[in-house]
Amino acid sequence: MAGIYIHIPFCKSRCAYCDFFSSTHLSYKSKLVACLCKELISEKHYIGNETVETIYFGGGTPSLLEENDFKLIFDTIQATYDTSNCVEITIEVNPDDVTNDFVSMLKKFPFNRISIGIQSFINNELKLINRRHTSEQAINAVQLFQRNDYENISVDLIYGYPSQDINNLSTSIDKLLKMKIQHISAYHLTYEKGTVLHQKLINNEIQAVDEETSLEMFHLITSELTKNGFLHYEISNFAKNGFESKHNSSYWNGKKYLGIGPSAHSYNNTSRKWNVASITSYIKAIETQSPCYEIEQLSLNDKYNDYIITSLRTLQGCSLTNIKTEFGEIYLKNCLLNITKHLNNNTLQIDSDSLKLTPKGIFLSDGIIADLLAVD
Ligand SMILES: C[S@@+](CC[C@H](N)C(=O)[O-])C[C@H]1O[C@@H](n2cnc3c(N)ncnc32)[C@H](O)[C@@H]1O
Ligand code: SF4
Repeated sequence: MAGIYIHIPFCKSRCAYCDFFSSTHLSYKSKLVACLCKELISEKHYIGNETVETIYFGGGTPSLLEENDFKLIFDTIQATYDTSNCVEITIEVNPDDVTNDFVSMLKKFPFNRISIGIQSFINNELKLINRRHTSEQAINAVQLFQRNDYENISVDLIYGYPSQDINNLSTSIDKLLKMKIQHISAYHLTYEKGTVLHQKLINNEIQAVDEETSLEMFHLITSELTKNGFLHYEISNFAKNGFESKHNSSYWNGKKYLGIGPSAHSYNNTSRKWNVASITSYIKAIETQSPCYEIEQLSLNDKYNDYIITSLRTLQGCSLTNIKTEFGEIYLKNCLLNITKHLNNNTLQIDSDSLKLTPKGIFLSDGIIADLLAVD
């Protein structure tokens, strides 16, 4: 079983924090959709004969596509892949695109999971990050999907805004919980180089929250969401029972996935590849049948590191037996050596066969994981 990710690299405007690849020039949209279809066919071999279990339209802004675009893509998928066991088809949508007409159009396609980027329920915060919608618009968008019988809705939230007051976060969480959704992704704001917020930080126009406040916010989110029946199944992800994202879980569980479109990444157990992050170069490569990607064969160290990075992000953690059987005694020995400090600091714990981050360790995960990686 494998996943397909389709990157739609267009946005009406750029948000102040975001460095995902996208362009605000939509003139190439039709050409790009035709190329996505061609790449779906030409790169099928990358995931071998695997049947497709999940499909994910991400971006950029997939809710900028129109009926004919979706029709071309779904017709190509259906003609090319075995989707008889496909259980989850997600689309990321931006609240400002959600109208009655848009939802009626979407109902013609087999999407069964909606991921809405709301980010905050405080209008001043939304303005600061240059979102195109208000809190009220975002709530209306969720309700419109619910009235149209979508029963698997996820909301993205960002916390740790410059000088954010914990009471504002608390208000956002209360509004989020009132909506009776099934899944929440909550990300701490990161200042990505090249973004407007990063520049403002450098110019001292804004101030990042301190570490203590960040930790307090993380604890508020985890405690409020778990109290309200959400399972904290991955560092940034919370789901009602049975609503864990199957597509994203396949990234964390080392399943194969094929990424289609500019900047999309793919993985198939033996290699990973990444497509060029340029719409014009991507179109040119696809139209001339030349590679639109770079590819790297994975060494045993790479595979081990991938396993550590992805499994430690999940609730189940990483299996020590699996390290021994998949990678060998020497990897297990080194792993046990590297974790001693973190076991003593109570940032990692061993629960029967599973090595897991403790609640204290979750927030420090990047540094802990880096200590565990194998180096060539
Ligand atoms: C591909 S992005 C956006 C999807 C969709 N276009 C939207 O804007 O709602 C997926 C999510 O990543 C998160 N994200 C992107 N950049 C981030 C950053 N610098 N810090 C924290 N979260 C970020 C946001 O929550 C966002 O909704
Ligand atoms: S957050 Fe979404 S809408 Fe905003 S720039 Fe990034 S991809 Fe585009």
